[in-house]
Amino acid sequence: MERRQFLKGSAMAGAALAFSGKHSWARSADSRIEIFVDEPKGQISPNIYGQFTEHIGGVIYDGVWVGESSKIRNQFGIRAELIDRMKEIHVPLVRWPGGCFADSYDWKDGIGPVSQRPTRTNFWANDPDAARLHEKGPQVFESNRFGTNEFVRFCGLVGAEPYLAANLRSLPPLEFDHWVEYCNSPAGSTTLAEMRAAAGFPEPFNVKYWGVGNESWGCGGDFTPEEYASEFRRYTDWIPRYGVDLQLIGAGPNGNDIDWTHRFFDEIFGNHPYRNSSFTGWSVHHYASNLSRGKTNDWILSKGDALQFDMVDWYELLRECDRVEQIVADQWAVMGQYDPEHHIKLVVDEYGPWYREGTELDPTHIFGQQVTMRDAVATALTLDAFNRNAEKVSVAACAQLVNNINALFLCHEDRFFATPNFHVFAMYAGHQGGQSLRTEFSAPDIHYVRDGKPASFWGLNGSASRKGNVVTLTAVNPDLDGPSDTQVALRNVKIASASGRILKAGDMHAHNTFENPEAVKIATLDVSVNGETLSLSIPAASVIQLEIALA
Ligand code: AHR
Repeated sequence: MERRQFLKGSAMAGAALAFSGKHSWARSADSRIEIFVDEPKGQISPNIYGQFTEHIGGVIYDGVWVGESSKIRNQFGIRAELIDRMKEIHVPLVRWPGGCFADSYDWKDGIGPVSQRPTRTNFWANDPDAARLHEKGPQVFESNRFGTNEFVRFCGLVGAEPYLAANLRSLPPLEFDHWVEYCNSPAGSTTLAEMRAAAGFPEPFNVKYWGVGNESWGCGGDFTPEEYASEFRRYTDWIPRYGVDLQLIGAGPNGNDIDWTHRFFDEIFGNHPYRNSSFTGWSVHHYASNLSRGKTNDWILSKGDALQFDMVDWYELLRECDRVEQIVADQWAVMGQYDPEHHIKLVVDEYGPWYREGTELDPTHIFGQQVTMRDAVATALTLDAFNRNAEKVSVAACAQLVNNINALFLCHEDRFFATPNFHVFAMYAGHQGGQSLRTEFSAPDIHYVRDGKPASFWGLNGSASRKGNVVTLTAVNPDLDGPSDTQVALRNVKIASASGRILKAGDMHAHNTFENPEAVKIATLDVSVNGETLSLSIPAASVIQLEIALA
Protein backbone atom coordinates (compact mmCIF):
# COMPACT_ATOMS: atom_id res chain seq x y z
CA MET A 1 0.00 0.00 0.00
CA GLU A 2 1.36 3.38 -0.93
CA ARG A 3 -0.29 5.33 1.76
CA ARG A 4 1.03 6.82 4.95
CA GLN A 5 -1.16 7.75 7.82
CA PHE A 6 -0.69 10.88 9.82
CA LEU A 7 -2.37 12.26 12.86
CA LYS A 8 -4.53 15.31 12.91
CA GLY A 9 -3.30 18.29 14.93
CA SER A 10 0.22 18.87 16.15
CA ALA A 11 1.73 15.72 14.66
CA MET A 12 0.71 16.84 11.19
CA ALA A 13 3.53 19.22 10.37
CA GLY A 14 6.16 16.63 11.20
CA ALA A 15 4.35 14.02 9.16
CA ALA A 16 4.17 16.45 6.26
CA LEU A 17 7.90 16.91 6.32
CA ALA A 18 8.43 13.18 6.44
CA PHE A 19 6.12 12.84 3.49
CA SER A 20 8.16 15.06 1.19
CA GLY A 21 10.51 17.92 1.76
CA LYS A 22 10.14 19.37 -1.71
CA HIS A 23 6.70 20.90 -1.59
CA SER A 24 5.44 23.41 0.89
CA TRP A 25 2.22 21.75 1.96
CA ALA A 26 -0.68 23.88 3.12
CA ARG A 27 -1.15 23.37 6.83
CA SER A 28 -4.91 23.55 6.46
CA ALA A 29 -5.07 20.45 4.21
CA ASP A 30 -6.52 17.26 5.76
CA SER A 31 -4.96 15.00 3.17
CA ARG A 32 -2.14 14.96 0.71
CA ILE A 33 -1.44 13.14 -2.49
CA GLU A 34 1.97 13.10 -4.08
CA ILE A 35 2.31 11.78 -7.62
CA PHE A 36 5.76 10.67 -8.69
CA VAL A 37 5.41 11.41 -12.39
CA ASP A 38 8.92 10.17 -13.12
CA GLU A 39 8.37 6.81 -11.43
CA PRO A 40 6.28 4.67 -13.80
CA LYS A 41 5.52 1.20 -12.46
CA GLY A 42 4.14 -0.54 -15.55
CA GLN A 43 1.45 -0.13 -18.12
CA ILE A 44 -2.15 -0.46 -16.97
CA SER A 45 -3.64 -3.15 -19.17
CA PRO A 46 -6.89 -1.84 -20.68
CA ASN A 47 -8.24 -5.33 -20.03
CA ILE A 48 -8.50 -4.73 -16.30
CA TYR A 49 -11.58 -2.69 -17.23
CA GLY A 50 -13.34 -5.81 -18.53
CA GLN A 51 -16.85 -7.08 -17.81
CA PHE A 52 -18.42 -10.47 -17.13
CA THR A 53 -21.66 -11.84 -18.61
CA GLU A 54 -23.16 -15.21 -17.68
CA HIS A 55 -26.27 -17.10 -18.67
CA ILE A 56 -27.86 -16.45 -15.33
CA GLY A 57 -31.09 -14.69 -14.47
CA GLY A 58 -31.52 -11.51 -16.52
CA VAL A 59 -27.94 -11.02 -17.70
CA ILE A 60 -28.10 -12.42 -21.23
CA TYR A 61 -31.86 -12.69 -21.82
CA ASP A 62 -33.42 -9.30 -21.01
CA GLY A 63 -30.02 -7.68 -20.34
CA VAL A 64 -27.93 -8.25 -23.47
CA TRP A 65 -30.30 -10.06 -25.82
CA VAL A 66 -33.74 -8.70 -26.68
CA GLY A 67 -34.16 -10.37 -30.10
CA GLU A 68 -34.18 -8.99 -33.63
CA SER A 69 -37.97 -8.58 -33.73
CA SER A 70 -38.12 -6.72 -30.41
CA LYS A 71 -39.58 -3.21 -30.22
CA ILE A 72 -36.60 -2.38 -28.04
CA ARG A 73 -33.90 -0.68 -30.08
CA ASN A 74 -31.42 -3.38 -31.02
CA GLN A 75 -28.60 -4.31 -33.31
CA PHE A 76 -28.90 -7.89 -34.55
CA GLY A 77 -31.03 -8.66 -31.47
CA ILE A 78 -28.59 -7.10 -29.01
CA ARG A 79 -29.84 -4.23 -26.83
CA ALA A 80 -28.57 -1.10 -28.60
CA GLU A 81 -28.58 1.14 -25.52
CA LEU A 82 -26.29 -1.34 -23.78
CA ILE A 83 -23.90 -1.29 -26.74
CA ASP A 84 -23.89 2.52 -26.81
CA ARG A 85 -23.20 2.89 -23.10
CA MET A 86 -20.48 0.21 -23.13
CA LYS A 87 -18.76 2.05 -25.98
CA GLU A 88 -18.85 5.26 -23.92
CA ILE A 89 -16.66 3.64 -21.26
CA HIS A 90 -14.47 1.72 -23.74
CA VAL A 91 -15.17 -1.76 -22.38
CA PRO A 92 -12.10 -3.63 -23.63
CA LEU A 93 -13.06 -7.25 -22.94
CA VAL A 94 -16.14 -9.31 -22.05
CA ARG A 95 -16.06 -12.74 -20.40
CA TRP A 96 -18.75 -15.32 -21.26
CA PRO A 97 -20.69 -17.69 -20.90
CA GLY A 98 -19.91 -18.14 -17.18
CA GLY A 99 -19.22 -18.54 -14.36
CA CYS A 100 -20.57 -21.83 -13.15
CA PHE A 101 -22.76 -21.99 -16.27
CA ALA A 102 -19.63 -22.45 -18.41
CA ASP A 103 -18.91 -25.92 -17.02
CA SER A 104 -22.41 -27.12 -17.92
CA TYR A 105 -22.46 -25.51 -21.37
CA ASP A 106 -22.11 -27.31 -24.67
CA TRP A 107 -21.02 -24.61 -27.10
CA LYS A 108 -22.38 -26.68 -30.02
CA ASP A 109 -25.92 -26.11 -28.71
CA GLY A 110 -25.53 -22.40 -29.39
CA ILE A 111 -24.48 -22.47 -33.04
CA GLY A 112 -26.25 -23.42 -36.26
CA PRO A 113 -29.79 -22.53 -37.37
CA VAL A 114 -31.72 -20.96 -34.52
CA SER A 115 -34.78 -23.19 -35.07
CA GLN A 116 -32.62 -26.26 -34.53
CA ARG A 117 -30.93 -25.17 -31.34
CA PRO A 118 -31.89 -27.36 -28.39
CA THR A 119 -33.39 -26.17 -25.12
CA ARG A 120 -31.42 -27.30 -22.07
CA THR A 121 -31.72 -26.96 -18.34
CA ASN A 122 -29.76 -23.94 -17.16
CA PHE A 123 -27.03 -24.60 -14.60
CA TRP A 124 -28.80 -22.26 -12.16
CA ALA A 125 -32.22 -23.96 -12.45
CA ASN A 126 -31.90 -25.50 -9.00
CA ASP A 127 -30.54 -22.46 -7.29
CA PRO A 128 -33.03 -21.33 -4.63
CA ASP A 129 -33.38 -18.00 -6.44
CA ALA A 130 -34.28 -19.73 -9.72
CA ALA A 131 -36.38 -22.46 -8.15
CA ARG A 132 -38.89 -19.92 -6.84
CA LEU A 133 -39.57 -18.67 -10.37
CA HIS A 134 -41.64 -21.70 -11.41
CA GLU A 135 -41.38 -20.46 -14.94
CA LYS A 136 -40.20 -21.84 -18.20
CA GLY A 137 -38.13 -18.75 -18.92
CA PRO A 138 -34.55 -18.83 -20.17
CA GLN A 139 -33.43 -18.36 -16.57
CA VAL A 140 -34.46 -21.97 -15.93
CA PHE A 141 -34.45 -23.51 -19.41
CA GLU A 142 -31.71 -22.27 -21.69
CA SER A 143 -32.98 -21.65 -25.23
CA ASN A 144 -29.50 -21.31 -26.73
CA ARG A 145 -30.79 -18.39 -28.75
CA PHE A 146 -27.68 -16.48 -27.72
CA GLY A 147 -24.56 -18.48 -28.55
CA THR A 148 -21.01 -18.01 -29.75
CA ASN A 149 -21.91 -16.09 -32.93
CA GLU A 150 -24.15 -13.69 -31.06
CA PHE A 151 -21.62 -13.17 -28.28
CA VAL A 152 -18.72 -12.50 -30.65
CA ARG A 153 -20.94 -10.11 -32.62
CA PHE A 154 -21.85 -8.34 -29.37
CA CYS A 155 -18.15 -7.91 -28.57
CA GLY A 156 -17.50 -6.62 -32.08
CA LEU A 157 -20.26 -4.03 -31.78
CA VAL A 158 -18.88 -2.85 -28.46
CA GLY A 159 -15.24 -2.95 -29.61
CA ALA A 160 -14.30 -5.49 -26.92
CA GLU A 161 -12.18 -8.66 -26.97
CA PRO A 162 -14.17 -11.84 -26.37
CA TYR A 163 -12.97 -13.97 -23.44
CA LEU A 164 -14.53 -17.43 -23.57
CA ALA A 165 -14.65 -19.77 -20.58
CA ALA A 166 -14.41 -23.41 -21.69
CA ASN A 167 -16.22 -26.33 -20.12
CA LEU A 168 -13.70 -28.55 -18.34
CA ARG A 169 -16.09 -30.40 -16.03
CA SER A 170 -18.58 -31.94 -18.45
CA LEU A 171 -17.12 -31.84 -21.97
CA PRO A 172 -14.01 -33.74 -23.12
CA PRO A 173 -10.83 -31.85 -24.15
CA LEU A 174 -11.51 -32.48 -27.84
CA GLU A 175 -14.58 -30.26 -27.56
CA PHE A 176 -12.37 -27.45 -26.34
CA ASP A 177 -10.16 -27.96 -29.41
CA HIS A 178 -13.26 -27.89 -31.58
CA TRP A 179 -14.56 -24.69 -30.02
CA VAL A 180 -11.21 -23.05 -30.75
CA GLU A 181 -11.44 -24.48 -34.26
CA TYR A 182 -14.97 -23.13 -34.75
CA CYS A 183 -13.86 -19.67 -33.64
CA ASN A 184 -10.42 -19.41 -35.16
CA SER A 185 -9.92 -21.75 -38.13
CA PRO A 186 -9.47 -19.75 -41.36
CA ALA A 187 -12.33 -19.16 -43.78
CA GLY A 188 -13.09 -22.28 -45.82
CA SER A 189 -10.52 -24.42 -44.00
CA THR A 190 -12.54 -26.81 -41.81
CA THR A 191 -16.05 -28.17 -41.50
CA LEU A 192 -16.51 -25.98 -38.45
CA ALA A 193 -15.28 -22.92 -40.39
CA GLU A 194 -17.93 -23.77 -43.00
CA MET A 195 -20.58 -23.91 -40.29
CA ARG A 196 -19.42 -20.53 -39.02
CA ALA A 197 -19.62 -19.17 -42.58
CA ALA A 198 -23.12 -20.59 -43.00
CA ALA A 199 -24.16 -18.52 -39.98
CA GLY A 200 -22.82 -15.41 -41.71
CA PHE A 201 -19.29 -15.33 -40.31
CA PRO A 202 -16.81 -16.57 -42.94
CA GLU A 203 -13.84 -14.83 -41.34
CA PRO A 204 -12.36 -16.30 -38.16
CA PHE A 205 -13.25 -14.71 -34.85
CA ASN A 206 -9.61 -14.91 -33.69
CA VAL A 207 -10.57 -15.35 -30.05
CA LYS A 208 -7.44 -14.92 -27.94
CA TYR A 209 -8.65 -15.25 -24.36
CA TRP A 210 -9.73 -18.69 -23.14
CA GLY A 211 -10.56 -19.67 -19.60
CA VAL A 212 -9.71 -23.29 -18.89
CA GLY A 213 -12.73 -24.08 -16.73
CA ASN A 214 -14.16 -21.89 -13.99
CA GLU A 215 -13.91 -22.28 -10.22
CA SER A 216 -12.58 -25.80 -10.68
CA TRP A 217 -12.33 -26.09 -6.89
CA GLY A 218 -16.16 -25.75 -6.75
CA CYS A 219 -18.89 -25.76 -9.41
CA GLY A 220 -16.27 -26.41 -12.08
CA GLY A 221 -15.63 -30.00 -11.02
CA ASP A 222 -14.81 -30.04 -7.30
CA PHE A 223 -11.26 -30.96 -8.22
CA THR A 224 -8.23 -31.04 -5.98
CA PRO A 225 -5.48 -28.70 -7.26
CA GLU A 226 -3.50 -31.75 -8.41
CA GLU A 227 -6.47 -33.17 -10.32
CA TYR A 228 -7.15 -29.79 -11.90
CA ALA A 229 -3.50 -29.45 -12.90
CA SER A 230 -3.68 -32.80 -14.65
CA GLU A 231 -6.88 -31.76 -16.48
CA PHE A 232 -5.31 -28.42 -17.34
CA ARG A 233 -2.49 -30.24 -19.18
CA ARG A 234 -4.95 -32.42 -21.12
CA TYR A 235 -7.12 -29.48 -22.15
CA THR A 236 -4.38 -27.09 -23.16
CA ASP A 237 -1.59 -29.23 -24.63
CA TRP A 238 -1.43 -28.98 -28.43
CA ILE A 239 -4.53 -26.86 -28.65
CA PRO A 240 -4.91 -25.59 -32.26
CA ARG A 241 -3.57 -22.06 -32.73
CA TYR A 242 -4.25 -20.81 -36.28
CA GLY A 243 -1.68 -18.06 -35.76
CA VAL A 244 -3.66 -16.55 -32.89
CA ASP A 245 -1.68 -15.51 -29.80
CA LEU A 246 -3.81 -17.60 -27.44
CA GLN A 247 -3.97 -16.52 -23.82
CA LEU A 248 -4.93 -19.46 -21.62
CA ILE A 249 -6.23 -18.66 -18.18
CA GLY A 250 -6.16 -21.24 -15.41
CA ALA A 251 -8.93 -21.46 -12.82
CA GLY A 252 -7.26 -20.03 -9.75
CA PRO A 253 -8.32 -19.84 -6.13
CA ASN A 254 -11.45 -18.92 -4.30
CA GLY A 255 -10.45 -15.61 -2.72
CA ASN A 256 -7.00 -15.92 -1.23
CA ASP A 257 -6.73 -19.72 -1.07
CA ILE A 258 -2.94 -19.96 -1.09
CA ASP A 259 -3.01 -23.75 -0.88
CA TRP A 260 -4.88 -24.08 -4.20
CA THR A 261 -2.29 -21.95 -5.99
CA HIS A 262 0.72 -23.60 -4.35
CA ARG A 263 -0.43 -27.11 -5.11
CA PHE A 264 -1.50 -26.36 -8.70
CA PHE A 265 1.77 -24.63 -9.56
CA ASP A 266 3.77 -27.33 -7.80
CA GLU A 267 2.08 -29.97 -9.93
CA ILE A 268 2.45 -27.96 -13.15
CA PHE A 269 6.03 -26.73 -12.66
CA GLY A 270 7.36 -29.41 -10.25
CA ASN A 271 8.75 -32.84 -11.15
CA HIS A 272 7.46 -32.93 -14.69
CA PRO A 273 7.27 -29.25 -15.73
CA TYR A 274 4.60 -28.28 -18.22
CA ARG A 275 5.82 -25.44 -20.41
CA ASN A 276 3.07 -23.83 -22.44
CA SER A 277 3.84 -20.25 -23.41
CA SER A 278 0.13 -19.56 -23.92
CA PHE A 279 -0.53 -20.13 -20.22
CA THR A 280 -0.44 -16.46 -19.27
CA GLY A 281 -3.26 -15.97 -16.77
CA TRP A 282 -4.28 -17.22 -13.33
CA SER A 283 -7.83 -16.36 -12.41
CA VAL A 284 -8.87 -15.10 -8.96
CA HIS A 285 -12.42 -14.50 -7.78
CA HIS A 286 -13.08 -12.18 -4.89
CA TYR A 287 -16.62 -11.47 -3.79
CA ALA A 288 -17.41 -9.28 -0.82
CA SER A 289 -20.26 -11.50 0.30
CA ASN A 290 -19.73 -12.16 3.98
CA LEU A 291 -20.87 -9.04 5.81
CA SER A 292 -21.62 -10.81 9.09
CA ARG A 293 -18.61 -9.28 10.87
CA GLY A 294 -17.22 -12.70 11.69
CA LYS A 295 -20.48 -14.11 13.08
CA THR A 296 -21.13 -16.79 10.47
CA ASN A 297 -19.76 -18.36 7.32
CA ASP A 298 -23.18 -19.48 6.14
CA TRP A 299 -23.47 -18.51 2.46
CA ILE A 300 -27.01 -17.13 2.81
CA LEU A 301 -27.00 -15.82 6.39
CA SER A 302 -23.69 -14.01 6.04
CA LYS A 303 -24.92 -11.75 3.23
CA GLY A 304 -25.94 -8.15 3.75
CA ASP A 305 -28.65 -6.15 2.04
CA ALA A 306 -28.00 -4.02 -1.03
CA LEU A 307 -30.18 -1.14 0.20
CA GLN A 308 -30.69 -1.54 3.95
CA PHE A 309 -27.41 -0.89 5.69
CA ASP A 310 -25.91 1.30 8.36
CA MET A 311 -22.64 3.14 8.80
CA VAL A 312 -20.79 0.06 10.04
CA ASP A 313 -22.06 -2.01 7.10
CA TRP A 314 -20.71 0.69 4.78
CA TYR A 315 -17.17 0.35 6.12
CA GLU A 316 -17.37 -3.45 6.42
CA LEU A 317 -18.31 -3.80 2.76
CA LEU A 318 -15.46 -1.50 1.74
CA ARG A 319 -13.06 -3.46 3.94
CA GLU A 320 -14.13 -6.75 2.33
CA CYS A 321 -13.61 -5.33 -1.18
CA ASP A 322 -10.31 -3.75 -0.16
CA ARG A 323 -8.92 -7.21 0.65
CA VAL A 324 -8.35 -7.65 -3.08
CA GLU A 325 -4.98 -5.88 -2.88
CA GLN A 326 -3.67 -8.35 -0.30
CA ILE A 327 -5.00 -11.22 -2.39
CA VAL A 328 -3.12 -9.88 -5.41
CA ALA A 329 0.09 -9.53 -3.37
CA ASP A 330 -0.16 -12.98 -1.77
CA GLN A 331 -1.08 -14.85 -4.93
CA TRP A 332 1.64 -13.05 -6.87
CA ALA A 333 4.22 -14.07 -4.29
CA VAL A 334 3.24 -17.74 -4.51
CA MET A 335 3.20 -17.71 -8.31
CA GLY A 336 6.64 -16.12 -8.32
CA GLN A 337 8.09 -19.11 -6.49
CA TYR A 338 7.33 -21.28 -9.52
CA ASP A 339 7.37 -18.68 -12.30
CA PRO A 340 10.05 -16.18 -11.25
CA GLU A 341 9.82 -14.23 -14.52
CA HIS A 342 6.09 -13.81 -13.91
CA HIS A 343 5.10 -14.95 -17.38
CA ILE A 344 1.72 -15.73 -15.79
CA LYS A 345 -0.24 -12.71 -14.56
CA LEU A 346 -3.31 -12.40 -12.38
CA VAL A 347 -6.78 -12.33 -13.94
CA VAL A 348 -9.38 -11.13 -11.43
CA ASP A 349 -12.29 -12.18 -13.60
CA GLU A 350 -15.05 -12.03 -10.97
CA TYR A 351 -15.25 -9.40 -8.25
CA GLY A 352 -17.78 -7.22 -6.47
CA PRO A 353 -20.17 -7.02 -3.53
CA TRP A 354 -22.73 -9.84 -3.40
CA TYR A 355 -25.89 -9.22 -1.36
CA ARG A 356 -28.89 -11.32 -0.43
CA GLU A 357 -31.83 -11.50 -2.82
CA GLY A 358 -34.67 -8.99 -2.61
CA THR A 359 -33.66 -5.90 -4.57
CA GLU A 360 -33.71 -7.44 -8.07
CA LEU A 361 -35.80 -5.40 -10.51
CA ASP A 362 -37.61 -8.46 -11.82
CA PRO A 363 -38.12 -11.90 -10.22
CA THR A 364 -36.37 -13.55 -13.18
CA HIS A 365 -33.16 -11.65 -12.43
CA ILE A 366 -31.41 -14.28 -10.32
CA PHE A 367 -28.70 -12.57 -8.24
CA GLY A 368 -29.98 -9.21 -9.46
CA GLN A 369 -29.32 -6.49 -6.93
CA GLN A 370 -29.46 -2.73 -6.63
CA VAL A 371 -26.24 -0.75 -6.79
CA THR A 372 -25.76 2.16 -4.41
CA MET A 373 -23.14 4.78 -3.78
CA ARG A 374 -21.52 2.23 -1.43
CA ASP A 375 -20.96 -0.13 -4.35
CA ALA A 376 -19.57 2.67 -6.50
CA VAL A 377 -16.99 3.46 -3.82
CA ALA A 378 -16.20 -0.27 -3.50
CA THR A 379 -15.78 -0.64 -7.27
CA ALA A 380 -13.59 2.46 -7.44
CA LEU A 381 -11.24 1.32 -4.69
CA THR A 382 -10.98 -2.08 -6.41
CA LEU A 383 -10.05 -0.48 -9.75
CA ASP A 384 -7.50 1.71 -7.96
CA ALA A 385 -5.96 -1.42 -6.47
CA PHE A 386 -5.67 -2.94 -9.95
CA ASN A 387 -4.08 0.25 -11.30
CA ARG A 388 -1.55 0.27 -8.47
CA ASN A 389 -0.69 -3.34 -9.29
CA ALA A 390 -0.52 -2.87 -13.05
CA GLU A 391 2.47 -5.18 -13.38
CA LYS A 392 0.61 -8.02 -11.68
CA VAL A 393 -2.99 -7.82 -12.94
CA SER A 394 -3.44 -8.22 -16.69
CA VAL A 395 -7.19 -8.80 -16.93
CA ALA A 396 -10.18 -8.20 -14.65
CA ALA A 397 -13.91 -8.52 -15.13
CA CYS A 398 -16.60 -6.97 -12.96
CA ALA A 399 -19.26 -9.49 -11.93
CA GLN A 400 -21.52 -8.84 -13.67
CA LEU A 401 -22.27 -6.36 -16.47
CA VAL A 402 -26.05 -6.15 -16.29
CA ASN A 403 -28.98 -7.27 -14.08
CA ASN A 404 -26.77 -9.11 -11.63
CA ILE A 405 -24.23 -8.68 -8.85
CA ASN A 406 -22.51 -5.25 -8.89
CA ALA A 407 -23.99 -4.38 -12.29
CA LEU A 408 -23.18 -1.34 -14.41
CA PHE A 409 -26.66 -1.46 -15.91
CA LEU A 410 -30.09 -2.53 -14.74
CA CYS A 411 -32.89 -3.02 -17.22
CA HIS A 412 -36.11 -4.86 -17.81
CA GLU A 413 -37.88 -5.00 -21.13
CA ASP A 414 -37.86 -1.44 -22.53
CA ARG A 415 -36.59 0.28 -19.38
CA PHE A 416 -32.89 0.76 -18.83
CA PHE A 417 -30.57 2.81 -16.65
CA ALA A 418 -26.91 3.04 -15.72
CA THR A 419 -25.97 2.40 -12.08
CA PRO A 420 -23.39 4.39 -10.08
CA ASN A 421 -20.86 1.69 -11.07
CA PHE A 422 -21.15 2.73 -14.71
CA HIS A 423 -20.10 6.23 -13.72
CA VAL A 424 -17.07 4.87 -11.90
CA PHE A 425 -15.98 3.03 -15.02
CA ALA A 426 -16.56 6.22 -17.02
CA MET A 427 -14.35 8.23 -14.66
CA TYR A 428 -11.62 5.56 -14.61
CA ALA A 429 -11.49 4.89 -18.39
CA GLY A 430 -8.65 7.39 -18.80
CA HIS A 431 -6.32 4.99 -16.97
CA GLN A 432 -6.59 2.37 -19.71
CA GLY A 433 -3.18 1.88 -21.31
CA GLY A 434 -1.54 4.55 -19.13
CA GLN A 435 1.66 4.13 -17.13
CA SER A 436 0.82 3.50 -13.51
CA LEU A 437 2.64 6.05 -11.35
CA ARG A 438 3.90 5.67 -7.80
CA THR A 439 1.54 7.80 -5.74
CA GLU A 440 1.52 8.46 -2.01
CA PHE A 441 -1.75 9.15 -0.17
CA SER A 442 -1.68 10.61 3.29
CA ALA A 443 -4.84 11.10 5.32
CA PRO A 444 -6.10 10.46 8.82
CA ASP A 445 -7.73 7.09 9.38
CA ILE A 446 -11.48 6.94 9.93
CA HIS A 447 -12.45 5.65 13.37
CA TYR A 448 -15.79 4.12 14.25
CA VAL A 449 -17.33 1.63 16.65
CA ARG A 450 -18.07 -1.88 15.41
CA ASP A 451 -20.06 -4.15 17.71
CA GLY A 452 -18.88 -2.19 20.73
CA LYS A 453 -15.23 -2.27 19.74
CA PRO A 454 -13.10 0.39 18.04
CA ALA A 455 -12.50 -0.10 14.33
CA SER A 456 -10.80 1.96 11.65
CA PHE A 457 -10.51 2.27 7.90
CA TRP A 458 -8.15 4.30 5.75
CA GLY A 459 -9.14 7.89 4.98
CA LEU A 460 -8.12 8.33 1.35
CA ASN A 461 -6.63 6.14 -1.37
CA GLY A 462 -6.44 6.00 -5.13
CA SER A 463 -4.17 5.67 -8.14
CA ALA A 464 -2.55 7.75 -10.85
CA SER A 465 -1.38 7.09 -14.38
CA ARG A 466 0.18 9.00 -17.23
CA LYS A 467 -0.49 8.98 -20.95
CA GLY A 468 1.64 11.46 -22.86
CA ASN A 469 1.23 14.82 -21.18
CA VAL A 470 -1.89 13.92 -19.26
CA VAL A 471 -1.95 12.51 -15.74
CA THR A 472 -5.15 10.87 -14.53
CA LEU A 473 -5.69 10.73 -10.79
CA THR A 474 -8.59 8.84 -9.24
CA ALA A 475 -9.33 8.61 -5.54
CA VAL A 476 -11.89 7.55 -3.01
CA ASN A 477 -12.91 9.37 0.17
CA PRO A 478 -14.73 6.63 2.11
CA ASP A 479 -15.41 8.87 5.11
CA LEU A 480 -19.15 9.20 5.68
CA ASP A 481 -18.69 12.18 7.95
CA GLY A 482 -16.54 14.70 6.28
CA PRO A 483 -14.94 16.17 3.24
CA SER A 484 -11.23 16.03 2.89
CA ASP A 485 -9.39 19.24 2.01
CA THR A 486 -6.68 17.80 -0.14
CA GLN A 487 -3.49 18.99 -1.73
CA VAL A 488 -2.04 17.18 -4.72
CA ALA A 489 1.59 17.62 -5.76
CA LEU A 490 3.27 16.31 -8.87
CA ARG A 491 7.00 15.72 -8.70
CA ASN A 492 9.38 17.38 -11.18
CA VAL A 493 6.74 18.70 -13.60
CA LYS A 494 4.75 21.88 -14.16
CA ILE A 495 0.97 21.75 -14.26
CA ALA A 496 -0.66 23.51 -17.23
CA SER A 497 -4.28 22.93 -16.24
CA ALA A 498 -6.52 20.52 -14.38
CA SER A 499 -10.17 19.52 -14.41
CA GLY A 500 -12.11 17.36 -12.01
CA ARG A 501 -15.14 15.10 -11.93
CA ILE A 502 -16.93 13.66 -8.95
CA LEU A 503 -19.48 10.98 -8.08
CA LYS A 504 -21.17 11.67 -4.77
CA ALA A 505 -24.55 11.61 -3.13
CA GLY A 506 -25.99 13.13 0.01
CA ASP A 507 -27.16 9.71 1.15
CA MET A 508 -24.96 6.60 1.26
CA HIS A 509 -27.94 4.55 0.07
CA ALA A 510 -28.42 6.67 -3.05
CA HIS A 511 -29.01 4.65 -6.20
CA ASN A 512 -30.60 5.02 -9.59
CA THR A 513 -34.00 3.61 -10.49
CA PHE A 514 -36.31 3.46 -13.49
CA GLU A 515 -38.17 6.43 -12.00
CA ASN A 516 -35.05 8.40 -11.14
CA PRO A 517 -32.23 7.15 -13.39
CA GLU A 518 -29.96 10.10 -12.60
CA ALA A 519 -30.14 10.24 -8.82
CA VAL A 520 -26.42 9.46 -8.83
CA LYS A 521 -24.45 10.91 -11.69
CA ILE A 522 -21.11 12.53 -12.42
CA ALA A 523 -20.69 16.24 -11.62
CA THR A 524 -17.89 18.72 -12.11
CA LEU A 525 -15.39 19.04 -9.25
CA ASP A 526 -13.68 22.34 -8.54
CA VAL A 527 -9.93 22.16 -8.46
CA SER A 528 -7.45 25.00 -8.29
CA VAL A 529 -3.95 24.97 -9.68
CA ASN A 530 -1.25 26.67 -7.60
CA GLY A 531 2.05 26.25 -9.42
CA GLU A 532 3.13 22.65 -8.85
CA THR A 533 0.24 21.73 -6.62
CA LEU A 534 -3.51 21.40 -6.85
CA SER A 535 -6.03 21.90 -4.13
CA LEU A 536 -9.51 20.58 -3.87
CA SER A 537 -12.13 19.46 -1.41
CA ILE A 538 -13.09 15.80 -1.72
CA PRO A 539 -16.63 15.45 -0.31
CA ALA A 540 -17.64 12.68 2.08
CA ALA A 541 -18.32 9.26 0.55
CA SER A 542 -17.23 10.17 -2.93
CA VAL A 543 -15.14 9.07 -5.90
CA ILE A 544 -13.14 11.68 -7.78
CA GLN A 545 -11.16 11.90 -10.98
CA LEU A 546 -8.70 14.61 -11.99
CA GLU A 547 -7.29 15.06 -15.46
CA ILE A 548 -4.08 17.02 -15.15
CA ALA A 549 -2.40 18.46 -18.24
CA LEU A 550 1.35 18.88 -17.87
CA ALA A 551 3.04 21.98 -19.25
O1 AHR B 1 -21.15 -14.55 -10.65
C1 AHR B 1 -21.98 -15.58 -10.15
C2 AHR B 1 -21.22 -16.85 -9.87
O2 AHR B 1 -20.26 -16.62 -8.87
C3 AHR B 1 -20.41 -17.41 -10.99
O3 AHR B 1 -21.17 -18.21 -11.83
C4 AHR B 1 -19.38 -18.25 -10.30
O4 AHR B 1 -18.19 -18.36 -11.03
C5 AHR B 1 -19.20 -17.54 -8.98
O5 AHR B 1 -19.23 -18.41 -7.92
